Amino acid sequence: MDQKVPDLQKDQCYIDGTWVGTPSRAVVDPATGEQVGEVPNLGADETRAAIAAAETALKGWRALLASERAALLHRWYALQTEHVDELARLMTLEQGKPLDEARGEVLYGAGFTRLAAEQAGKILGETIPTHKADARIVVIKQPIGVVGAITPWNFPNAMITRKAGPALAAGCTMVLKPAGVTPLSALALAELADRAGIPKGVFNVVTGDAAPIGGELTGNPSVRMISFTGSTQVGKLLARQSADTVKRMALELGGNAPFIVFDDADLDAALDGLMASKFRNTGQTCVCANRIFVQSGVFDRFSEMLVERVATMPVGPGIEEGVAMGPLINDAAVEKVETHVRDAVEKGARVLAGGERHERGGRFYQPTVLTGAGPEMLLWNDETFGPVAPLIKFEDEAEVIDMANDTESGLAAYFYARDLGRVWRVAEALETGIVGVNEGIISTPNAPFGGIKESGLGREGSHHGIEEYIEMKYILMGGLDG
Ligand code: SIN
Repeated sequence: MDQKVPDLQKDQCYIDGTWVGTPSRAVVDPATGEQVGEVPNLGADETRAAIAAAETALKGWRALLASERAALLHRWYALQTEHVDELARLMTLEQGKPLDEARGEVLYGAGFTRLAAEQAGKILGETIPTHKADARIVVIKQPIGVVGAITPWNFPNAMITRKAGPALAAGCTMVLKPAGVTPLSALALAELADRAGIPKGVFNVVTGDAAPIGGELTGNPSVRMISFTGSTQVGKLLARQSADTVKRMALELGGNAPFIVFDDADLDAALDGLMASKFRNTGQTCVCANRIFVQSGVFDRFSEMLVERVATMPVGPGIEEGVAMGPLINDAAVEKVETHVRDAVEKGARVLAGGERHERGGRFYQPTVLTGAGPEMLLWNDETFGPVAPLIKFEDEAEVIDMANDTESGLAAYFYARDLGRVWRVAEALETGIVGVNEGIISTPNAPFGGIKESGLGREGSHHGIEEYIEMKYILMGGLDG
């Protein structure tokens, strides 16, 4: 099978409206280990050039009417939806997720572009009652400037549009460093930006090693903001590197989501929600259920239901028809899952399903259910980022809230319950930025996505997302009596 997607697959970087660089970094299909493409290995010098291009382009871009920026973003959105199949295929080849999931992500990603286009004309200033009769207080909103964006491999498309859409709508320009293993989706988005007529220098993509590119993005004074999605460890490093130039930070970092099933829950709905939350993207999302708490009255029934469902899950290369779960992204990810499972079993957990590498070999791991998980285990404190569902039995509400909040992370939490009083109490008590009540998938461009505690700073999506890219300027207009 010819695995290339000739129309949108690029092998060069996009800087100042020009395709540059020599392809030299292999892009590998995690399902097969085979090379599916090649991109340049650019460094600090080329990143500096991209930042300079973004700074030059900023003057013209921010000066456009909001309706003009909106029209270009609407065109970019239309192209993303027109090319959904090609973008999805490219994503599956470099990232491994099933084609249907990849299609879903492209549409999710396009939704951020559409939302941004709609918001460009809704960035409103204000007037504030004055403290002096001959003066007026006015607040205007302006783009923050050049944004450095660093995006992850688990969502190679949507995490880009979630940043680039609002940034460009607000009048900012961007230099993007996509994840090293999934650059093709990013370059395809750049190709579509070019076709949409987004002016040169407004959106730039630099591929290569994280250290030199990230070092330049965080150290360069022309970059006024870093927007990052990825691990908490790297987020902290970027924040430290950005401190000397006091950049604004938007950080969407790691999670450790509790998923709670109360005795009064609709168990079928809870099972559907858990399957979606836990096994989406092979368990490789920051909002995946990581610890699953089930109340004692329904524990046995719910674990049986889960084991039964997991046993019928089709696992294989995402490109194959009917596959529900693809491979893990790389060997290190498989080793981490193995370490978490081994550690849990050594400390007393029992394997109810899976627990080993999948018979398909390579980077495939069996969907796994464990019981008897506890706080002494690695998987309690660290997101497994793999298809492992550890079950924990609990007795009452106060106990489960304490256990759910027993983490430095605070991105997403989920619970299933019917009692209205309990629903409000638990939703308010969970220490996370996002709570899914009787829902296992909370992601939508319409809602503010982001975490508290060590899960990050700022929000993406909804009408709040664009605020991250805007500066407020207070103007005191005096001498009005004269
Ligand atoms: C993430 O895992 O970082 C993002 C997940 C999402 O947007 O649903």
